[in-house]
Amino acid sequence: MKTRAAVLYTPNTPFQIETIDLAPPQHGEVLVKISAAGVCHSDWHLVTGATDHPLPVVAGHEGAGIVQAVGDGVTRVQIGEQVALNWAPNCGDCFYCRHGRPSLCATYVAPIWAGTMMDGTTRLSRNGQPVYHFSGLACFADYAVVPQESCVPIPHEVPAAVTAVLGCAVTTGVGAALNTTPVQPGDTVAVFGAGGVGLSTIMGAKLAGAERIIAVDVSAEKSAMARSFGATDTITADEDVIARIQALTAGRGADIVYEAIGIPSVQEQCLAAVRPGGTLVLVGLSPMGTATNFPSAIIARQEKTIVGSYYGSADTSRDFPRYAQWYREGKLDLDRLITRTYTLDQINDAYTDMLAGTLARGVILLA
Ligand SMILES: NC(=O)c1ccc[n+]([C@@H]2O[C@H](COP(=O)([O-])OP(=O)(O)OC[C@H]3O[C@@H](n4cnc5c(N)ncnc54)[C@H](O)[C@@H]3O)[C@@H](O)[C@H]2O)c1
Ligand SMILES: [Zn+2]
Ligand SMILES: [Zn+2]
Repeated sequence: MKTRAAVLYTPNTPFQIETIDLAPPQHGEVLVKISAAGVCHSDWHLVTGATDHPLPVVAGHEGAGIVQAVGDGVTRVQIGEQVALNWAPNCGDCFYCRHGRPSLCATYVAPIWAGTMMDGTTRLSRNGQPVYHFSGLACFADYAVVPQESCVPIPHEVPAAVTAVLGCAVTTGVGAALNTTPVQPGDTVAVFGAGGVGLSTIMGAKLAGAERIIAVDVSAEKSAMARSFGATDTITADEDVIARIQALTAGRGADIVYEAIGIPSVQEQCLAAVRPGGTLVLVGLSPMGTATNFPSAIIARQEKTIVGSYYGSADTSRDFPRYAQWYREGKLDLDRLITRTYTLDQINDAYTDMLAGTLARGVILLA
């Protein structure tokens, strides 16, 4: 069959909307009619080259849709179900899956980063040449063939755009605050970067009972947004950020600092904002090949901890339905996380808006 898709051919060029070929789902695969796809910064890392990936690629890894057809051996979903898509499918059987760390599943790492399906081939092609799938999802498209392990059923009552953002921003951000380094009631946390991920971290910190939530962003527009999701204090990056955080924490620094941007120099600044004995959680993805210069002399003497957080340390089969339920109960205000919706043809505008710092989250709605 054919599908419209946003294809990236070369770094630093716009996405091209084209009609390309999509082969039927094979063993263990699912054809999903995509209904919504979130505009996450991780797709932009493909455009800048910060994330290295085989090209051409169809990006999009924060998706929702309806199951249209299934290949042999599919047991997890049925035709007609709404699914949120998991960009880090887990096998249930490897060392990490058996040790309660499914977001680190080792089984699919190689094909995912090769831009293929789990069998090492692509379902997408153009003029007989392979087009690669980002994260096995490639959901900036009307249709996608995905592994069944990526499909998590979500009730139809949850709107498509909300179901989509469960697939990355919400699970990454809320999960960082609840799973990776759980916020304790009364904690003071600082969140650097108030995009879809950082605002979700703020929501998670609030749910966990943080007393003070300090949001730091370059964009002044993000202050009001961050407050509306639970930030008690906001700082713009041009201020003396460390001095402001110290002033808000009796000179100590925050109990937990979450970096949700992905800039090494900001990650270093974040460590200075952590109190002795506190934790820095790295959520933002810095460009592949870059490094930070963390002061080990201070880390040892002040017992600071630095941890990475991948996909909010999620078990997506547990966490997607849980966050969907919290949305339905009014505990997660995910309608307001979606600032604007776009058509697939407007994808480049959506990324311009994301980079301008005007969006909590943008979501592309497919026809
Ligand atoms: N660890 C994971 O599993 C995971 C999952 C999803 C996204 N990410 C990463 O998280 C990061 C954030 O993603 P997003 O979709 O929320 O991005 P976004 O573009 O929506 O938000 C980033 C925010 O950071 C702000 N910002 C930029 N430079 C800044 C600076 N120097 N100081 C303070 N604020 C600054 C921007 O104004 C914006 O509000 C990206 O690096 C993305 O790739 C990681
Ligand atoms: Zn596994
Ligand atoms: Zn993402």
